[in-house]
Amino acid sequence: MDKLRIMSVFGTRPEAIKMCPLVKELAARPEIESLCCVTAQHRQMLDSVLEVFDLKPDWDLDIMTPRQTLSTITSKCLLGMDEAIDALKPDMILVHGDTSTTFAGALSAFYHQVPVGHVEAGLRTYDKYSPFPEEMNRKLVSAIADLYFCPTVNNKNNLLKEGIGKGLFITGNTVIDALKTTVREDYRFTTEELNRLPYGEKKIILVTCHRRENYGEPMKNIMLALRQIAEQHEDVELVYPVHLSPVVREAVDTYLRGTPRVHLIDPLPADEMHNLMARCYMVMTDSGGLQEEAPALGKPVLVLRRETERPEAVEAGTVKLAGVVQDDIVTMAERLICDKDAYAQMAHAVNPYGDGNACRRIADAILWHFGRGKKPADYLM
Ligand code: UD1
Ligand code: UDP
Repeated sequence: MDKLRIMSVFGTRPEAIKMCPLVKELAARPEIESLCCVTAQHRQMLDSVLEVFDLKPDWDLDIMTPRQTLSTITSKCLLGMDEAIDALKPDMILVHGDTSTTFAGALSAFYHQVPVGHVEAGLRTYDKYSPFPEEMNRKLVSAIADLYFCPTVNNKNNLLKEGIGKGLFITGNTVIDALKTTVREDYRFTTEELNRLPYGEKKIILVTCHRRENYGEPMKNIMLALRQIAEQHEDVELVYPVHLSPVVREAVDTYLRGTPRVHLIDPLPADEMHNLMARCYMVMTDSGGLQEEAPALGKPVLVLRRETERPEAVEAGTVKLAGVVQDDIVTMAERLICDKDAYAQMAHAVNPYGDGNACRRIADAILWHFGRGKKPADYLM
């Protein structure tokens, strides 16, 4: 029997971190030819992940331009995908999450009548503009997909409520699979500054911020809140690997640079980032991925957004929504910095997002779909 040609498509840093372990799992299955097409919606930040996971794509659309718009990303992906699909002739295309690459990848698969598997399916805020454009991207992909790999029961229920009743699997999130390969107790950072941080002596707060809906006033408020926290607490050090988006960099330069106890550094390779997270005191972020990783590592998270499509860790008590108002963010951070009991209540490891076997379940589900294996059991934590 011919091998199934399964093509994974991704383009940004978080998609890459969550898809590299899956591309490898698929490659390990004798029934599957695992193909990898990157759009390079992110260039440097994507390449850094490919290097950490030692993965060489079969096709690279190389679309990134500085300050790219949603329309340029989507149209360049669509045009590039035509060629990739014609050349690689996949039996199924896998897309991940909610980026413009995800949406364009799924739409392109549909135009070529190639079935689509959606990894990290069913996340919702039910607010069309928040996160923007991600909420709409993932809804549109739900309309196109044939197989839905939901990280949690809650994600599956969201899809059931929308009338999607077939092809649903609860797999856990592949980010936990990735974390299992990167985090090591004896890890030594290649970024020397990270080896010199006063872990244990001071409270190291790991910060990231990049979302489009936070551009402008919310991002300014976030930066000013971070500044206030660092200025007022000598026992704190903020470590902030700054996203390469020029909009984010401008906000950081205008409102945060030069503040004592704030380490502004370049984006970290995924293994460095995961090990830094494992050693920090707490996390402040508007990222989706960090909301999944930090709880698994027992680190409290303050989410710098008005909403989250990841309520599971909020329910488990390790994540809190801090919003985008300066005073609110400062108050919530100070509670965790100064109140030992409040900190202890949040700092426990939970794993609502997976057990590290999501990729195995996804590969099994794909083989089952093509009549070449048994249906995998759902991940029920
Ligand atoms: C994108 C995704 C977002 C995801 C985020 C992860 C969309 C619309 N947004 O947002 O869902 O959470 O990635 O980080 O799909 N840049 C570089 N080098 C890089 C990466 C980015 O220079 O390696 C700069 C470029 O100027 C680029 C800009 O950052 O134009 C913005 O990148 P883009 O992918 O458009 O948006 P993100 O905010 O990164
Ligand atoms: N990350 C990284 N280096 C960094 C910042 C983040 O490797 O300097 C990782 C992080 O651990 C997580 C992912 O990138 O796995 C999250 O990506 P991002 O915040 O860009 O996107 P989101 O998750 O919000 O879509």
